[in-house]
Amino acid sequence: MSVISLGYIHLTTEGTLGEWKNFATSVLGAAAVERDDELLIRVDEKAFRIAVTQADSGGLASVGLDVGDAAGLDLLRQKLAEAGYAVREGSAEEARRRSVIRLLHCNDPSGTPLELFYGQTYVREQFVSPLGVRFVTGDLGLGHVLLRAGRYDDTLAFYRDILGFRISDVWNGKEVTATFLRCNARHHSIALRKADDEGGFSLGHFMLQVDDVNTVGRAQEYGQEHLAMTIGRHFNDEMISCYLRSPSGVNVEYGTGGRRVDEATWVVGQIDAPSDWGHHPVKN
Ligand SMILES: [Fe+2]
Repeated sequence: MSVISLGYIHLTTEGTLGEWKNFATSVLGAAAVERDDELLIRVDEKAFRIAVTQADSGGLASVGLDVGDAAGLDLLRQKLAEAGYAVREGSAEEARRRSVIRLLHCNDPSGTPLELFYGQTYVREQFVSPLGVRFVTGDLGLGHVLLRAGRYDDTLAFYRDILGFRISDVWNGKEVTATFLRCNARHHSIALRKADDEGGFSLGHFMLQVDDVNTVGRAQEYGQEHLAMTIGRHFNDEMISCYLRSPSGVNVEYGTGGRRVDEATWVVGQIDAPSDWGHHPVKN
């Protein structure tokens, strides 16, 4: 058994949860509620997909990966232990906060905190976007994350050989080395990029997919003060997207039209540039 989708992410912010709530609802078109000391953001029927808490600095707190069921989680735990990784069973309280049945904590070789889980809660209350946005999730999971990995080779081997990700494409550029990894039909759920600092990790951006290019255009318009990169199209996953700077300092790639991989026919490709048009950096 391996990972089947990106389930959720947990971000920290230096700012207020109210500021994040405003960004999530009025720019991204997500729904957001404050519970205890965290902001829970919904884009579909799941209890939450993005959790935000306050901290001294903004960034990534953890990445939640769905492994499907209890047997899958137990097998993965065994595999991780055999490979020498430290794994900790999440407490009942931690599982409650994440709205899952069970979770395991472990770090990838670059230090990225991961939560492997199963049993994400569907909530009865229907998801209603304040902007009428329809997000593309379901079997494809939340979207994707771009992780910068200090220990790139070890980290790539970890996702491929232990967590069961498959390689969709690679980018061996002059300044960028990256591998695009999938765990379902989404072209990539994790993009792994080699970082300069040995041993470190960070979240470069995360991607949310919507079902209409006009929604992406409107987000660029509504989110002008947050705009980090203009609308453009990526070569490899065919995503037409813009990048918006979230209050956590992490960019959100907000896109549409991403391609699906057919496992029977897919062959690994290599790209020489990330975009065929657009994606121009914006100085705010
Ligand atoms: Fe991306």
